Amino acid sequence: MARRRQLYEGKAKILFEGPEPGTLVQYFKDDATAFNAQKKGTITGKGVLNNRISEYLMTRLAEIGVPTHFIRRLNMREQLIREVEIIPLEVVVRNVAAGSLATRLGIPEGQRLPRSIIEYYYKNDQLGDPMVAEEHITCFGWAATQDLDDIVALTLRVNDFLTGLFLGVGITLVDFKLEFGRLWENDEMRIVLADEISPDNCRLWDAKTGEKMDKDRFRRDLGKVEEGYQEVARRLGILPEA
Ligand code: C5P
Repeated sequence: MARRRQLYEGKAKILFEGPEPGTLVQYFKDDATAFNAQKKGTITGKGVLNNRISEYLMTRLAEIGVPTHFIRRLNMREQLIREVEIIPLEVVVRNVAAGSLATRLGIPEGQRLPRSIIEYYYKNDQLGDPMVAEEHITCFGWAATQDLDDIVALTLRVNDFLTGLFLGVGITLVDFKLEFGRLWENDEMRIVLADEISPDNCRLWDAKTGEKMDKDRFRRDLGKVEEGYQEVARRLGILPEA
């Protein structure tokens, strides 16, 4: 098969030109980074697991009417996606205090929040993805007010749905990060969910024991990183074909 033209290489994924106009191929690497790439490593098999987990979650979300960039999985490490104009925001949802929220505000990790919080970070590696407010987003034109309304509505639906889905398999969805893009079709623009949803960008704790099954195992050197990702896939019933 002809080699595909590489368009972009990120920390955990590579984007290639897709087979048809308006499509891309998203390739999942085993590379892992943390703390704005100050910590680097490899998690064997992570790309394969994230490809499957993200396929599963995006498919379930599409079934409840959340528009996504996902078209179909192509093989163990690649999926076909729609080409979108990425909005330069990391949209973080928190249900339980952990990570930077716990550190920044001195809230004990594991404390359930009285209501879910949405935070925005400006996607810029050089600046270390600084946290921003709605005012910054609209002032600098990263997203229009209407776009942001759509993003918030979609984010809340994703949070409600995924919280229930994970709880059903004994996992607490502590927090996660979403990215969105603009999809143009017949001169009409829609905001759609993009990137991936996987243990790389979610905190997932065993609902009974609190054991971490996500990238914090890598960030905090807890060991058994791949096993954590595998356990998430196993509980979702989607371990890759042996
Ligand atoms: O580090 P922090 O507590 O702010 O992360 C909140 C959530 O967003 C975590 O689930 C983390 O995995 C995710 N995140 C991410 N990419 C970033 C920053 C955070 O996926 N650049």
